[in-house]
Amino acid sequence: MKQKLLGRPVALLSLLTMAFLLFSFIVTEEKRSDVPHTSFRPGERWTDTDGVHINAHGGGILRHQNTYYWFGEHKVEGRKGNLALVGVQCYSSTDLYNWKNEGVALSVSDDPDADIAKGCVLERPKVIYNAQTQKFIMYFHLELKGKGYSAARVGIAVSDQATGPYTFIRSLRPNAGYWPENMTAAQRTSRLSTADFPESWTSEWRQAVKEGLFVRRDWEGGQMSRDMTLFVDDDGKAYHIFASEENLTLHIAELTQDYLDYTSRYIRLAPGGHNEAPAIFKKGGKYFLITSGCTGWAPNAARLHVAQSIWGPWTEYPNPCVGTGAELTFHSQSTFILPVAGKKDAFIFMADRWTPQNPIDGRYVWLPILFEKDLPVLKWSDEWTLDVFDQTQN
Ligand code: DGJ
Repeated sequence: MKQKLLGRPVALLSLLTMAFLLFSFIVTEEKRSDVPHTSFRPGERWTDTDGVHINAHGGGILRHQNTYYWFGEHKVEGRKGNLALVGVQCYSSTDLYNWKNEGVALSVSDDPDADIAKGCVLERPKVIYNAQTQKFIMYFHLELKGKGYSAARVGIAVSDQATGPYTFIRSLRPNAGYWPENMTAAQRTSRLSTADFPESWTSEWRQAVKEGLFVRRDWEGGQMSRDMTLFVDDDGKAYHIFASEENLTLHIAELTQDYLDYTSRYIRLAPGGHNEAPAIFKKGGKYFLITSGCTGWAPNAARLHVAQSIWGPWTEYPNPCVGTGAELTFHSQSTFILPVAGKKDAFIFMADRWTPQNPIDGRYVWLPILFEKDLPVLKWSDEWTLDVFDQTQN
């Protein structure tokens, strides 16, 4: 009895202590999110300068006049699924660690008949700057409202300011009526069509895909365009790189001088290779493209493709990720590769750790690209800073 009486205050005290500890933990976490960040912590919540987790998924970065602008998919609190209800979000930063929310750069439309109607799917936005026209140009993967992933279009929007607002111009399927440069005459004129293959994934079907089955099917209406990125080369020429042909083959298409249209010059890359999430950079005159396989929101092993010319030939190399988690790209999927200004051969691999059960909580996995034998290598790091690029590589 005496023991029981004694036990009560002790239990109460432990409860109070626990409550206090929990409270201080929450307060410290809150505070931590307010202080300026001084490092990258891949996979952790990454707060903006208001202390709110950054909402720019499947994003890309433009550097303009000493400021970085991060554009990404805006996800809605408490909302499952992937419908665009707001648009493209923009953040700005001068140090890459601390990001200020600049608001919605491109808004979805309230007009239910618009291409970018609220409720469409709007993914992987990328922005480039055209020095001649002084316009900021945004491309993104667009799926029309209510049509699942069948539309497979690219959307184009333009603005006079980096942060927007961007005006939607049009959406399309690229290169209607044009053949890829690296498709042979026999492949262009082959009579084989999708109707000849009632079953997919057979070896005959795979061979036919490699030989342009879907390019021929979509020749007239334009090539499918899903996961994508943009790349501006040293000579100012810009390219749209996208998952085409039912996500089975990547296309690289040259854009016109104003970056608002296609020149009709394009190639197929890794035909039948089933790549998505393209992210590209150039180092020492060579082009390095990191992609993923196609497993929806679930991560898989990254792939690496290298070429001496953007027009190929492209050679596939093994997964650039090494160490624990490498086979799942450290539980993430590539979205962009950012050259760091003022540092030689310094590139950041940007990837998404998708959380489809609560998309807004998706995390960002940024890792420095290291080089071994002149090939990019990605290693996990819990925390790192830009100083990593000052250490001698190779
Ligand atoms: C994987 C793609 O990379 C994402 O952008 C998105 O399209 C999902 N698939 C949809 O399942």
